[in-house]
Amino acid sequence: MSEQLTNEQLVRIAQEFGTPVYIYNADKIEKQYQRLRAAFEGGRVKIFYAAKALTNLSVLRFIHKLGANVDCSSINEVKLALQAGFDPSRVLYTSNGIHFAEIEEALLLGVFVNIDSLYNLQKLGEKYGNRYPVGVRLRPNIMAGGNLKISTGHDRSKFGIPVEQLGQLQDIIRKYGIRIQNLHIHTGSDIKDADIFIKGIDVLFDIIPHFPDLRSIDLGGGFKVAYKDGDPVINIEELSQKVLAAFDAHEAARGLEIWFEPGKFMVSECGYLITSVNLLKETAATTFVSINSGFNHLIRPMFYDAYHRIENLSNPGGAVAPYSVVGNICETDTFAWDRPLPEVREGDLLVFYNAGAYGYEMASTFNSRFRPAEVIVRNGKAQLIRKRDTMEDLIRNQVVVDL
Ligand code: LLP
Repeated sequence: MSEQLTNEQLVRIAQEFGTPVYIYNADKIEKQYQRLRAAFEGGRVKIFYAAKALTNLSVLRFIHKLGANVDCSSINEVKLALQAGFDPSRVLYTSNGIHFAEIEEALLLGVFVNIDSLYNLQKLGEKYGNRYPVGVRLRPNIMAGGNLKISTGHDRSKFGIPVEQLGQLQDIIRKYGIRIQNLHIHTGSDIKDADIFIKGIDVLFDIIPHFPDLRSIDLGGGFKVAYKDGDPVINIEELSQKVLAAFDAHEAARGLEIWFEPGKFMVSECGYLITSVNLLKETAATTFVSINSGFNHLIRPMFYDAYHRIENLSNPGGAVAPYSVVGNICETDTFAWDRPLPEVREGDLLVFYNAGAYGYEMASTFNSRFRPAEVIVRNGKAQLIRKRDTMEDLIRNQVVVDL
């Protein structure tokens, strides 16, 4: 099993399938899952892969085969997970802001649902009484995560039931006899500090006695991985040791399962986006490198100011100079400003690292450009798992009318 694809492999795949292309290394996904399993050994911890990071069916099937469970963020993700082979008992649906009809649909499909509003909990009670045990997502009022856009547990966040509304929550539960089997929090993405999870645990442990049907505590995902050399990352061994110790030390928590929902940790580093250089443009301010991509393919640098490492696969030994890597869409889609790169020429292949999580998944057809193809590599063998869009895809659902 190889954790990194070599430059030669990446070039070969780009030549075979064309660019832009997303490439995922399945061996790396397996490695990351094994690391989690090893850190959280003992059977008490369940891993739910956060499918929103990367939902390609072949990836979901592979993660299913590895033995993980899956966490979904929409009814369509639930359906994809079921199609990929997950038994409903291994599917979790952590909903946010959805119409009650979608919760009903998920319950009828047999998956476990975390409800994130008093409104929908009340509806569940009114319509189904205590028929369906569910989880509730709470907002613990903890600031965490790499930047405000990906912080989800603070006291102005839309996510979850604010923990200070515990009284109202209990009223609904009591009124309908709803069995709350899981308490969920997810405080953010890119969390590098294990103690954030302990803060969350402290909030939950204070209220556990109010939930007699509880079976599990779900601490969400958000494990930070490295996007560049020397980047601080979460230490999952330390996280495991601290979390398990906290659960052991708390009488009421001893019998509970512990759930995590990692997305980036599972699939960020497995992914590469390979693009080609269209042209160079010298200006007084910088040298622009325009590639055959844009925020329609990888929006993280523009949306979150996220750093993605870039390499020139075609000229690794070239003289290093600063280049501003930009896309070809009609927006300011700057991937990197004045990034030192080996000499870049027309036609060179540039690779973006850490492109597995929230890469293709957040892609669009803006400017009527095609989304890239997706390729997966297992034991050195590359296979196409999604074709590049075509003109037919762009017009498929359009209804052309004469006006
Ligand atoms: N569980 C829940 C309820 C979540 O909302 C998320 C992410 C996860 C798990 C997985 O988080 P992860 O382990 O991947 O950090 N698009 C952003 C990240 C937003 C994540 C939203 N929720 C990015 O590209 O940085």
